Amino acid sequence: MNYGLRTNNQEEMTKKLYNYKLLLILIKISTMPKTIIAGNWKMNKTQAESKEFLKQFLSLIAHRDESTEVVLCVPFTSLETVSLNLDGTGVGLGAQNVHWAESGAYTGEISASMLTEIGVNYVIIGHSERRQFFGETDETVNLRLKTAQKHGLTPILCVGETKAQRDAGETENVIFHQLKEGLVGVDQNNLVVAYEPIWAIGTGDTCESSEANRVIGLIRGQLENKEVSIQYGGSVNASNIDEIMAQPEINGGLVGGASLEGVSFARIVNFQ
Ligand code: 13P
Repeated sequence: MNYGLRTNNQEEMTKKLYNYKLLLILIKISTMPKTIIAGNWKMNKTQAESKEFLKQFLSLIAHRDESTEVVLCVPFTSLETVSLNLDGTGVGLGAQNVHWAESGAYTGEISASMLTEIGVNYVIIGHSERRQFFGETDETVNLRLKTAQKHGLTPILCVGETKAQRDAGETENVIFHQLKEGLVGVDQNNLVVAYEPIWAIGTGDTCESSEANRVIGLIRGQLENKEVSIQYGGSVNASNIDEIMAQPEINGGLVGGASLEGVSFARIVNFQ
């Protein structure tokens, strides 16, 4: 009997098994949805105010958990200033809309190449405020999503129901319809979805974290790519972020009001 050979074989098998397990862990990590915390400043902050915010905010998140991606979605007029000040910080830059045409007679709109030229990586599309107040439809949302992706931008697609729709038991129908129409021909490998119940936006009336988790699970069920990051948005603040992020289906937050102030947004980014 050759005991030496046997030991060598066993050692080799153990090594192979170890490497195989390691590979599986690495595959799992690389296919897990990314955690993304994004601030949506909406129509707030001049360039001077944006710079002032960054001075405080960036110092407060200097030691953050690097596995959390942080994005600032700022007004068009602040994009360049913020872009220059984010250099080397690892914080992503987002716009709040993009038009589907390359250029042309579209007064008040912005094109994808105007955004990418100044270092924008993300763009919010189909926010409920655009749908409610500016006539955005699932069809225009779809056009914007496809153009954003064509230019290498990562769109954050917002979906969500009104209070009346929720009370009428229409939540799932409304969201599934928004997803179905919005995502025609859209690449789900470069996409973030934000579930933002309209009744929870800017009201302080946060959706229960377990309910947000349930709806986000349903949204994931509708997607072909189960690894899409799905955020919750609607009255997220420094006091409720830990509970929200503890939910297994929730991969981040899209934060309005609480992203305007450095201390509160830094606490949200540094959730526990
Ligand atoms: P609030 O966090 O102010 O409720 O806004 C949420 C939102 O609309 C983010 O896009």
